[in-house]
Amino acid sequence: MSVDLLKLSPDEFKKIAKVVYDRTGIHLEDRKLSLLSNRLRRRLKALKMDTFEQYRKHIESAAGFKEEEPHFLSAVTTNETYFFRNEQLWRYFENDLVPDFVETKGKTKKEVRIWSAASSSGEEAYTTAIMLRELLPNFNTWNVKIIGSDISSKVLDMARAGKYNAYAVSKTTPERIKKWFDKVNADEFHLKPAIKEMVTFQFHNLRDEFPSGRFDVIFLRNVLMYFDIPMKKRVIDVVTKALADNGRLIVGDVDPIRTIPELSAHMTLSYQRPGVYQKLKTAAQGAANKKLVKA
Ligand SMILES: C[S@@+](CC[C@H](N)C(=O)[O-])C[C@H]1O[C@@H](n2cnc3c(N)ncnc32)[C@H](O)[C@@H]1O
Repeated sequence: MSVDLLKLSPDEFKKIAKVVYDRTGIHLEDRKLSLLSNRLRRRLKALKMDTFEQYRKHIESAAGFKEEEPHFLSAVTTNETYFFRNEQLWRYFENDLVPDFVETKGKTKKEVRIWSAASSSGEEAYTTAIMLRELLPNFNTWNVKIIGSDISSKVLDMARAGKYNAYAVSKTTPERIKKWFDKVNADEFHLKPAIKEMVTFQFHNLRDEFPSGRFDVIFLRNVLMYFDIPMKKRVIDVVTKALADNGRLIVGDVDPIRTIPELSAHMTLSYQRPGVYQKLKTAAQGAANKKLVKA
């Protein structure tokens, strides 16, 4: 049969979904069968393979997975993102978080550490860079470290390149586009070095502990929804550990933690407002706050 007509059988789908889960924690529901068929069919063609079984056996072997990893991960992940995604969040960042940094750190260390976990192609991390550059008084006197990480090396390469299309900047004001991007044409915008050099990108699988830590803010937006409950809990533990005392976890537009009792019970960070949790300095403070939130 021509590869174009191949469709994953439910049995083969389950086997490939298991590889996806074991490698990434992403839980592919049965309704994703056609989507996965379409995405992997392209890989079969590129590798001149005749069946999905052949492809699955290839990625199940350590050597095959190593070779195929960037393509496989880009086929199974959803990387949708853009600058200034969720206006309300960036207003909170501007009106609450940055003034808090200035008040608590402005007279001492002047150090701010941010992690955009599951950064995709970098828009979230660079939005943070733009905001801090615009809002921190005497910006050059601050030590700002922003890290973006993702499991897909393809999106990390895009992030490092700092080149974006019109869709990526569709929620960025014309003033900001003018200030922080070089417009090459109607559909190509290059970040200026002043912003690009503020962020570093690295591979990280959210199943694993993050190697460096103590962040003031961790963004974990639009990614938990791809995981099942055990993986969600594991990721919550990873980011909780990586937060500095009083650091904030920002989980996103529709808070996926409070709406699930099992996750809410697992959470040790204190709820602050929709989508925002804080690692209060002492455990006692945290526990007290947790009770307040539950009441
Ligand atoms: C929809 S994007 C979210 C981008 C950005 N955080 C935002 O909200 O606009 C989800 C990203 O999560 C990444 N991802 C999925 N599973 C992951 C894992 N186990 N570890 C790290 N990143 C993962 C995907 O590669 C993808 O780039």
